[in-house]
Amino acid sequence: MNATITATARYLPERKLSNFDLEKMVDTSDEWIRSRTGIENRHLVGEGEATSDMGTEIAKTLLERSGKTPEEIDLILVATSTPDYPVVSTAALVQDKIGAVNAWGYDIVAACTGFVYALETGAKLVESGTYKNVIVIGADTMSSIIDYTDRNTCVIFGDGGGGVLLEPSENGIGILDSILHADGSGSQYLTVPAGGSLHPASKDTVDKKMHYVYQDGKTVYKFAVKNMADVSKRILDQNNLTGDDVKLFIPHQANRRIIDAAAKRCGLGPEKVLVNINRYGNTTAGTIPIALDEAVETNRLEKNDLLLLAAFGGGFTWGSMLIRWGDA
Ligand code: UT7
Repeated sequence: MNATITATARYLPERKLSNFDLEKMVDTSDEWIRSRTGIENRHLVGEGEATSDMGTEIAKTLLERSGKTPEEIDLILVATSTPDYPVVSTAALVQDKIGAVNAWGYDIVAACTGFVYALETGAKLVESGTYKNVIVIGADTMSSIIDYTDRNTCVIFGDGGGGVLLEPSENGIGILDSILHADGSGSQYLTVPAGGSLHPASKDTVDKKMHYVYQDGKTVYKFAVKNMADVSKRILDQNNLTGDDVKLFIPHQANRRIIDAAAKRCGLGPEKVLVNINRYGNTTAGTIPIALDEAVETNRLEKNDLLLLAAFGGGFTWGSMLIRWGDA
C-alpha cells in the first residue's frame, strides 16, 4: 500500500508587498531583488491573522474538495516554523477550528523542508494501515519573525501556505520514495536566535533583535545549490529514472537561481519546472504545497505522471520525494 494525495489547497493572505513597496522601506531596488532572487511580490497576513488561520482555511478547502467530513479526519500534521504559540501546536488549533473531533496531530519544525518532512511522516502513518485520512499542511507567517529594516531578509520572505489530503492507494500510485537529511552543524547560518530555551525572551534579546530571522545568505546559498541539486538527482538515480521520466518538478522556492541549478542537474527543461517565487517570495514550509495546488489547478498533472519534489532549508534540512500522481 502507498499513500496518495487526493486533494490539494492553498491560502495566500490578501495584503501584498511588492519590490516597489520595499524600495520605500529599505535600501534596495526592484532590479536587485528580481535579478538576485526572482521575487517581485509577496503576500502578508492581516492584523491578528496567524498561521493557524491560514491552516484552517487550507484544511476547510481540503474538506470541501474531497467531500470528507471533519469527523473523518484521523490526523493533522502542520509543518511550520511560525506557530501561533511556542506551546500549543498549530495542528491542535486547526483541529479545533475545523471540528475534526476524531483527529490528533502535531507540528513539524524543519524550516523550508518542513512540508516534505511532514508529507513523508503522514505517508508512513497511512502506509502503516492505521490512518486513512491525513491532512498535511505547510504554512508560515514569516512576517512575524522578519525585521522590515533588514534588507538581507525582508525582501525574500512572504506569508502563505498549502496542504494536501493523504489517503491509502494501491497499484503503485502515490508517494514512491523519499530521501531526507538533517545537518545541525549548519544551524547558525539560518536561524531565529532567541525565543527558545537557549535564549529565552528578555529585554536584551528584544533590544538585540534576536527574535528575527538571521541568514548568512551566501553560505546558505552554497549549501542549498549543492544539496538540493544532489538530492534531486540521487532520488532519480536510485529509482533508475532520468529527467525525461519526470512530468513536473516542484522545488522549494527560495531563489530562482537555486531552482535553475537543481533543474539543470536533473536534466529538466524549464517547461517541467514549476516556478512561482515571483508572486509569493519564500513562504518557507508553504512553497511546495502552494505550488502543488497551482499545478493541479492548471492541469499540469495527470494520472500516472511522475512528480519530483525537492527542498532545502534551515537546520540545515533537505530532501526530495518522488510521487506517482493519481487517486487511489
Ligand atoms: O529557504 C531557505 C534557504 N534559503 C536560501 O536558500 C537562500 C539562499 N541565499 C540566497 O538566496 C542569496 O544569498 C540572497 C538572495 C539571500 C542574497 O543574494 P547574494 O547574491 O548572495 O547577495 P549577497 O548576500 O552576497 O550580497 C551582495 C551585496 C552585498 O553588498 P556588498 O557587500 O557587495 O556591498 C549586500 O549588502 O548585495 C547587498 N544586498 C542588497 N542590496 C540591495 C543584500 N541584500 C540586498 C538588498 N538590496 N535587498
